[in-house]
Amino acid sequence: MAKKDIDWSNIGFGYMKTDKRYVSNYKDGAWDEGILTGDDTVVISECAAVLQYAQTIFEGLKAYTTVDGRVVCFRPDLNAERMEDSAKRLEMPTFPKERFVDAVVKTVQANIDYVPPYGSGATLYLRPYMFGSDAVIGVKPATEYQFRLFCTPVGPYFKGGVKPITIRVSDFDRAAPNGTGHIKAGLNYAMSLHAIVDAHNQGFDENMYLDAATRTKVEETGGANFLFVTRDNKIVTPKSDSILPSITRRSLMSVAKDYLGLEVEQREVLFEEVPEFVECGLCGTAAVISPVGCISDHGKEIKFENGCTEMGPIIKKLRDTLTGIQMGQIGAPEGWIKEIK
Ligand code: PLP
Ligand code: COI
Repeated sequence: MAKKDIDWSNIGFGYMKTDKRYVSNYKDGAWDEGILTGDDTVVISECAAVLQYAQTIFEGLKAYTTVDGRVVCFRPDLNAERMEDSAKRLEMPTFPKERFVDAVVKTVQANIDYVPPYGSGATLYLRPYMFGSDAVIGVKPATEYQFRLFCTPVGPYFKGGVKPITIRVSDFDRAAPNGTGHIKAGLNYAMSLHAIVDAHNQGFDENMYLDAATRTKVEETGGANFLFVTRDNKIVTPKSDSILPSITRRSLMSVAKDYLGLEVEQREVLFEEVPEFVECGLCGTAAVISPVGCISDHGKEIKFENGCTEMGPIIKKLRDTLTGIQMGQIGAPEGWIKEIK
């Protein structure tokens, strides 16, 4: 078999159908053994819980070709654990961690010709998800579920790749205190669609959400956590119960401390202190670390001193070290890399 004929260096962050996906069904209190299938369609009741009450959760992770030609993926066990947390919060059955990792391996192996080559700038994005598939009309959880995992080759999440982006402070809230902001539920993204379309229409790349209760603290964007750099090179990331615990952010905090010798701090970040930071980045599987050059607060602009037009030096070091670990150029901490081929 040969790599697919794809212009790897010029793909964006979009969906491309690949050959196989993994499917397992939950019925009568148990998951079936799961299969790989060529069928990319889903047939469910018109009254399925996912369609009526948005009972759906998902994950996102990537597979990479390393410098020496292996195919690996990054910390899939943490995605499995987070999906378990998401399932519990939406009254769904959990999909066992070992089976989740096995589904990742099988799906990547079955689509190996879609894993972008080393150095192309593209990666294979994996999308595990689970939804309530049987009919409910009263508001209650489904009794039957489907777990699926497909993959698609992707390029950079933000157009322009690593050029600093401009975001705005959103007047919409993303997540309520004691709500679902800390899990990866489809509903969190449905309610962000109007905000992102509006942001794009106003010329911004993303929204910065503040905490819904006081609107004084930085939370996250629609699809990534924040990292800030202080004037004395400390890495600061917001702490909040209503943001998604990003695996990329947790990994970057370790990288900053253990590989780069930087001081790191996870704490509440007041919006009013943002102008004091010299660099800002958005981190996530899709975003990797995308530099933020400017934040617009209702017309008032905050421009980051060391990263306004080009990626700042500390964000760049973090990005290069993390991607170096993912692509096998730099030794990884124990357990971070899952070998696939
Ligand atoms: N925050 C939100 C809202 C997200 O959707 C994502 C994407 O998964 C992240 C943060 C980053 O999380 P991770 O690094 O685990 O991909
Ligand atoms: C990811 O980074 O994997 C996500 O799920 C974010 C999404 C906005 C694409």
